[in-house]
Amino acid sequence: MVEINLMDLQARIEAAADRIAPYVRRTPLEFSHGLSEKNEGNVFIKMESEQRTGSFKVRGAFNKCLVLRSEQPDVHVTTASSGNHALACTLAMKTVGLTGTIYLSENVSKTKELALVREGAILRHHGTDAVEAETKARQTAQEEGIPFISPYNDMEVMTGQGTVGKEILEDLPDVDAVFVPVGGGGLIAGIAAYIKAVKPTVKVVGCQPAHSAVMAKSVEAGRILDLPSLDTLSDGTAGGVEEGSITFPICQQCVDDWVLVEEDVISDAIYFMMADHHKTCFLEHKLPECDRSAATPARLVWLPEQLKITDCGRSSWGGHRCLLTDSTEVPWEVSGNHFLWSKHFHREIKENNRM
Ligand SMILES: Cc1ncc(COP(=O)(O)O)c(C=O)c1O
Repeated sequence: MVEINLMDLQARIEAAADRIAPYVRRTPLEFSHGLSEKNEGNVFIKMESEQRTGSFKVRGAFNKCLVLRSEQPDVHVTTASSGNHALACTLAMKTVGLTGTIYLSENVSKTKELALVREGAILRHHGTDAVEAETKARQTAQEEGIPFISPYNDMEVMTGQGTVGKEILEDLPDVDAVFVPVGGGGLIAGIAAYIKAVKPTVKVVGCQPAHSAVMAKSVEAGRILDLPSLDTLSDGTAGGVEEGSITFPICQQCVDDWVLVEEDVISDAIYFMMADHHKTCFLEHKLPECDRSAATPARLVWLPEQLKITDCGRSSWGGHRCLLTDSTEVPWEVSGNHFLWSKHFHREIKENNRM
């Protein structure tokens, strides 16, 4: 197993926190009456939905861009993403004065593209899906000898995301367990490394959609698996894990447990965030029969049931839990044929899942 150095990671995360402080928000840690009532304990939500650009991704993007600028002020970078990472990198590059090209697939949603263009992104289209666009971005970076900014498999990106863990421990020192949504693992690896370095008794739980649980299944198998993903409402946490990713050994060694969340439970979570925490979600009308992944509001993983289940096995976990919402509204798809996430739609999804 690859050895990890927790003290070094802690130092990097602390340095990242100082570096990005002028550019990112310290997001609130909000007490959730609704979730606390459903569970025997106090549940808090770290509102990364209130972060600049609507997700935690700006933490890693600013950390990476600031380090790059200090090493090579004129460097041009590439990245590939049509979602939160792209928007975060665009803002970070513009703010710190770097230039960069974002690779998108040919058939990316025009609304997503427009949001990036509005922020001033330089875009290049390649291929028919995200993997082809990323391959092209990496290839270009290699040919031109310039950096490619991975959304998760990058030390500065991961340690930038780890600043969320530092804020949680500072704002809720007696937290018992932290639940984190996981895709490629940059967010949880940063948070878990910090927590295990500073207060190892705090449990860290990775949450993935059952439809796309590559990291959880890879950790279980002891190696990174190449698994297909099904469409999921939580599209930010969908997708595979790159071979050799630095996030994998950290997930293996610092994450205490994993929960897989079904689509109807994710739908419950979206509805709950609207009803209890006054969040608004937009969604394409054609759902749920087709194209769920195109515009999904599920940027959080919710878990009252899982919290209970997890507790059954580990009654010593204590009362303070912290869930991480990682963004709420999807700014992309707001023009066109949309409607507000509604009770009616919520019911439709639940029924659909039951069939
Ligand atoms: C909103 C949101 N949440 C969670 C994730 C997962 O983050 P990571 O890939 O670092 O695990 C992403 C990744 O794009 C995201 O956009």
